[in-house]
Amino acid sequence: MKPMKLAVPKEKVEGETRVALLPDDISKLTEAGNEVIVESGAGAEAGFADSDYEDAGATVKADAQSVLNDAEVVLKVQGPEEQELEGMKQGALLISFLAPLSSPELIKSLAERNVTAFAMEMIPRTTRAQSMDALSTMSTVSGYKAALIAAAELSKFFPMLTTAAGTVRPSKVLVIGAGVAGLQAIATARRLGAQVEAFDTRPVVKEQVKSLGAKFLEIELDAGDAEAEGGYARELTEEEQQKQRELMDKAVTGADAVITTALVPGKTAPVLITAETARSMRPGSVIVDLAAEAGGNCELTVPGKENIDNGVRIIGPLNLPASMPAHASQLYSRNVFTLIDYLIDEGALKLDFEDEITKGTCVTNEGRIVNDTVRAAVEGG
Ligand code: NAI
Repeated sequence: MKPMKLAVPKEKVEGETRVALLPDDISKLTEAGNEVIVESGAGAEAGFADSDYEDAGATVKADAQSVLNDAEVVLKVQGPEEQELEGMKQGALLISFLAPLSSPELIKSLAERNVTAFAMEMIPRTTRAQSMDALSTMSTVSGYKAALIAAAELSKFFPMLTTAAGTVRPSKVLVIGAGVAGLQAIATARRLGAQVEAFDTRPVVKEQVKSLGAKFLEIELDAGDAEAEGGYARELTEEEQQKQRELMDKAVTGADAVITTALVPGKTAPVLITAETARSMRPGSVIVDLAAEAGGNCELTVPGKENIDNGVRIIGPLNLPASMPAHASQLYSRNVFTLIDYLIDEGALKLDFEDEITKGTCVTNEGRIVNDTVRAAVEGG
């Protein structure tokens, strides 16, 4: 079998602590006869030294350029910077998060440079591709961390406590959006003893919310087919959003902590908490807005910042998975490894555009944008 050359650069984006492949997954590749070059320090923040990578059979190089030079496959967490892109050889395969629907310039450059790019965001949400589903693994990290941030920033305990000095009532946590991150936030807040209520426009999640010991907020949106293709939510009309804000108002103002995760793929996040509603929460309350990256679910959210208004803390964290690099990298590495394992056959890349995984995830190939949704987004904007 002809060995393949794979490269794992150190992430260049500021604050990115994750690494695309951990030694455990690398050893499977090197044992199968492939060559893996890792940039020195790539795994440091995830807890892995260069020597751990060498023990897994990788070659560690200090010079970023020589890591990329003749790699046939480049594995990353964040999309490549200009310099990395220039350092990649023509025809190389890149596997990374690429935000393909909102990064038209990057996608055009990848096509121009003849890079075959797979966007981890585009892995189909199917049972077969589940082990490659990096959106789910990273949302799991974000949801967990959001509940911890809410607990840490709140001026109250999450659990009920019975003490000699009296009884402390459990905090009320409201989770808006019960997808992967929301469900993990519910589970974590429940484990910490909070009383949890949750809402999602997709009625199918009601049973999942209840099975985690939370209450489903019963509001009649009359939004009918709130579920769109692929199990995702559809974007609500402005009138429907207005109605949702009015109906949820009481639950928001009555909560001690609100965790919002409501997203519609490729759109800005719906504004579900107005400034007025946020300000009417009790001082000391917290809003953790996981939709901050897409503009935020709360009108007072400042992405990447904590904003205190009328005593209410509104936190809009960005890239929460990078705050837990060890486990986030472990999960992401397995997602990436499973995808490579699917793409490499007998030492060569096998691109089967008839298969839903390649068809759905590959965004550029042989100088062209090959994914219809991405092409429409790039041409449209
Ligand atoms: P997401 O991150 O795109 O959205 C988060 C949540 O926000 C979703 O549950 C959505 O319904 C909700 N939302 C949107 N607008 C809202 C509004 N106005 N008010 C309240 N909630 C609102 O979604 P995520 O977590 O990436 O996945 C969504 C769904 O995709 C899953 O629940 C599941 O059905 C499906 N999925 C399937 C998988 C599989 O089959 N392997 C794996 C992962 C997800």
